[in-house]
Amino acid sequence: MNGQLLKLESVTVTFGGVVALSEVTFSLESSELLGLIGPNGAGKTTALRSITGVVTPQHGTVTVAGHDLSGLSIQARARLGLGFSQQLVRPFFNLSLLDNVALAAGHAITRSPRRALFARDRSRQRAQALELLERVGIADAAASAPAELPLGYLKRLEVARALALSPRLLLLDEPLAGLNQQEARRLADTLRELNGDGLSMLLIEHNLSEVMRICARLVVLDNGRKIAEGVPGEVMSRADVRRAYLGESYAQA
Ligand SMILES: Nc1ncnc2c1ncn2[C@@H]1O[C@H](COP(=O)(O)OP(=O)(O)O)[C@@H](O)[C@H]1O
Ligand SMILES: [Mg+2]
Repeated sequence: MNGQLLKLESVTVTFGGVVALSEVTFSLESSELLGLIGPNGAGKTTALRSITGVVTPQHGTVTVAGHDLSGLSIQARARLGLGFSQQLVRPFFNLSLLDNVALAAGHAITRSPRRALFARDRSRQRAQALELLERVGIADAAASAPAELPLGYLKRLEVARALALSPRLLLLDEPLAGLNQQEARRLADTLRELNGDGLSMLLIEHNLSEVMRICARLVVLDNGRKIAEGVPGEVMSRADVRRAYLGESYAQA
């Protein structure tokens, strides 16, 4: 099960005059839960988007299990095993949680949301969806619509929808954002459990105490550059990392 699953090599992304990422290199081992951290504007979401294909780097390469992703569509990348959730929660607000996940499961099969919705074999998708809702701890609200539920449920729904694609690498962008301390801790525990079951995960997170608790290794970005990498305790004790977080209201975390 070992080996490099994800590798970014000298990835540079600019938006007009803004350098969002500059020569960023890091890798993620198979079965690893890697934390990608850094202050606001550091380039974390841009790094994730250059992996998923939303953003095209001006320079550098991204590989998954040895496949160079250059030129591949977002769909092709999903077929290579990338699953992702966005920083903003975007479910179908008029569908139940179960249907939201079943739709994602059907999408994984047909690659067409419209056909997934009308596919004849929906019972299998619904069974799979219920299993995923259980796995992320929100099966009790399977029949409820997202609009009726607190953010904690929606964050978990996003994880369940990403899991419905059976990814071999799950990319999460601030899944704990907006949750209270107790909810954040519980969802972090769920993520650790998923990783314990063998799921490789790149976790972008601003909640430093939870990241330090569940990740064995961190990569730190600041101003588009990688400034540190290593085990959480060592990384967070570095003066340059502390300086990067200074002035951020989250720095006390
Ligand atoms: N689509 C975009 N267009 C222009 N600038 C962007 C865009 N996306 C990100 N940026 C800029 O790139 C930098 C890194 O942003 P981002 O990757 O979102 O950081 P983070 O996720 O670490 O907060 C910021 O200066 C941001 O304003
Ligand atoms: Mg971001």
